[in-house]
Amino acid sequence: RSAVARSAPSNSHLLRRGFSSESVLEHKVAVLGAAGGIGQPLALLMKINPLVSKLSLYDIGGTPGVAADVSHINTRSEVTGYAGEDQLGQALEGADLVIIPAGVPRKPGMTRDDLFNINAGIVKSLSTAIAKYCPNAIVNMISNPVNSTVPIAAEVFKKAGTYDERKLFGVTTLDVVRAMTFYAGKANVPVTGVNVPVVGGHAGITILPLFSQATPQANLPEDVIKALTKRTQDGGTEVVEAKAGKGSATLSMAYAGAVFADACLKGLNGVPDVVQCSFVQSSVTELPFFASKVILGKNGVEKVLDLGPLSDYEQEGLEKLKPELKASIEKGIKFTNEN
Ligand code: NAD
Ligand code: LMR
Repeated sequence: RSAVARSAPSNSHLLRRGFSSESVLEHKVAVLGAAGGIGQPLALLMKINPLVSKLSLYDIGGTPGVAADVSHINTRSEVTGYAGEDQLGQALEGADLVIIPAGVPRKPGMTRDDLFNINAGIVKSLSTAIAKYCPNAIVNMISNPVNSTVPIAAEVFKKAGTYDERKLFGVTTLDVVRAMTFYAGKANVPVTGVNVPVVGGHAGITILPLFSQATPQANLPEDVIKALTKRTQDGGTEVVEAKAGKGSATLSMAYAGAVFADACLKGLNGVPDVVQCSFVQSSVTELPFFASKVILGKNGVEKVLDLGPLSDYEQEGLEKLKPELKASIEKGIKFTNEN
């Protein structure tokens, strides 16, 4: 059931830049759920990332085809497909970074929490395997509900004695991507120069974009800021409804996942000042996990940054989101301890 699709490593672009192939750091990246709607385009984007030397594509099925397909792309990494639980260990062994988009997506009318019953078990079993086969890997959790799946993974790692809070990330990059796109439209500025921090969590009102800290500043009126906030919070639902039963965001998520994974790899490589928003273990509020800007380094989180100055509207949003986020975190912890 396995397909080992290897492509000849091409170092020509590295040599052109004056590096010897020996000076380039090796990183194995594993994608769990690689045959899915996010997994496939994410596999493509990781295949074209020059920081990846080995790309391991795992799913319960379908990965031989995905691996054979992307392996024909003439970039550096060697691609291997793994299908079925008996190959999960091999898929994970030696991984520096594990990206998890495994699990069911929403249909119209569902909340992310409605995915908990199925996805909690998937995340728990994948995290158990990570603790066993690549306990030092950085983990990028995409599977929803992120507000609960990150605490689930943390509890699994704690029980296994492998937990390193610097290495577990809930991927909230898509919220930032959306906030930047929507803001640029309203502020009428080129989107490439825009930055908007998004803090809190990754569901509904727990998604808190900080437009007061957006750059470049556009001094948008309060009603526009409120509408932008709501659109960012409902961005996932906008896609779920437009897809009308055929899943949730996959392409924009693959893009966001690739941006975040690239930032983690840059951090591992010692590139200075790599900053991204992410849902991590945190003490910036009284909640044990919280999304905010973090500096990424050689061991994952180097520093969790404070929220910075908030507008009254954002301060109000922060207080409103805390009970929901707290309940989602506690639900994840309880699940892991009872199952
Ligand atoms: P999908 O159904 O298209 O793909 C999911 C894949 O996971 C499938 O290929 C399936 O076979 C695989 N899978 C299921 N159980 C598995 C297991 N035990 N081990 C390995 N693989 C397994 O779904 P999708 O659209 O790719 O979405 C995946 C998840 O990502 C969903 O939970 C969705 O809600 C979430 N998501 C998160 C964000 C975010 O911003 N964090 C954005 C979009 C989607
Ligand atoms: C998103 O924000 O697009 C994802 O969390 C998927 C969803 O269910 O909305």
